Amino acid sequence: MPEPERLVSGKKKLHTDERLENALRPTRLDEMTGQTRVVENLRILIEAAKARREPLDHVLFYGPPGLGKTTFAHVISNEMEVNIRITAGPSIERAGDLAAILTHLREGDILFIDEIHRLGRAVEEVLYPAMEDFALDIVIGKGPAAKNVRLHLPRFTVIGATTRLALLTAPLRARFGAVFRLDFYDIEALAAIVRRAADMLRVTIDEEGIDEIARRARGTPRVALRLLKRVRDFAEVRADGVITGAVAVEALELLEIDPLGLDDIDRRVLLTIIDKYGGGPVGLETIAASISEEADTIMDVCEPYLLQLGFLERTPRGRVATALAYRHLDRDDQRPPRQEPLF
Ligand SMILES: Nc1ncnc2c1ncn2[C@@H]1O[C@H](COP(=O)(O)OP(=O)(O)OP(=O)(O)O)[C@@H](O)[C@H]1O
Ligand SMILES: [Mg+2]
Repeated sequence: MPEPERLVSGKKKLHTDERLENALRPTRLDEMTGQTRVVENLRILIEAAKARREPLDHVLFYGPPGLGKTTFAHVISNEMEVNIRITAGPSIERAGDLAAILTHLREGDILFIDEIHRLGRAVEEVLYPAMEDFALDIVIGKGPAAKNVRLHLPRFTVIGATTRLALLTAPLRARFGAVFRLDFYDIEALAAIVRRAADMLRVTIDEEGIDEIARRARGTPRVALRLLKRVRDFAEVRADGVITGAVAVEALELLEIDPLGLDDIDRRVLLTIIDKYGGGPVGLETIAASISEEADTIMDVCEPYLLQLGFLERTPRGRVATALAYRHLDRDDQRPPRQEPLF
């Protein structure tokens, strides 16, 4: 059974996403909203590299889906005025695939590796010397006559992106000169993103409408853009195409997205912990099985936002719902006050 499309998932899954995103994707650092720390650091990195006429250091971005990792990679290539070659961990199956990509790079080029935590071990072994020494070690011939040959590569930049920093091997991580964590966006930044998108898409929306969408976008630009689109559809059919605060609220309620941006899956995750497991702790796999969702989806999409809201805590024995979560879901928290371990 195909999975139903999930509106508030930061994951890029909806088929309409791609076109919309490409049209709205910022191309320069100046156009990036929010993430000011990352933007400022990148500005320095880029200016310094350009002044020295050197390729940029290898850069790694990590954080939940839809926060701008791919966008930043494209922005960097525009700012550096170099080519970007795009690939992803799972699509580089063999060491030879990577060798082929590497030998086609030109001086200064960017190699963007999405989902870099999914590179195979053998592929990683090829990447290490390539990143460190711009060298490719290959074996020519077979058996006792085989010879190791070292090829020199042009100096290039790897930009890696991952939603799971913890799955990256230590040696790979160590080869990145700059590592940036992307955080959830605040309401103002999301409002600015919605405003800009509405402008580009020629959608009529007032400030309250912008605010309602920004508040329910769970800190994620991709979700904000997707909600804008759905609310626009609703406004066109039900409200002369104008998105006011009231229209946005009505549309979002119809989509079952609550004022904090939680959807049905988030609520089921929390209610499972609260109603079935007395508030936890309960393991992620158990939660996933109870609500028939993939553990990966819960880990990548639900959990980071629920943690950020303070609705969920991670403990060594599993996930625990907090008093805040009980209150948000109108559940009575009758648990005894928790004993904090002394050490
Ligand atoms: N800082 C930003 N300012 C404005 N728009 C942004 C910003 N970051 C992201 N966006 C918008 O959100 C969309 C999703 O971002 P992007 O594809 O870069 O996310 P991602 O982190 O690569 O997600 P994934 O982990 O799924 O690959 C982009 O197409 C872009 O339009
Ligand atoms: Mg991406």
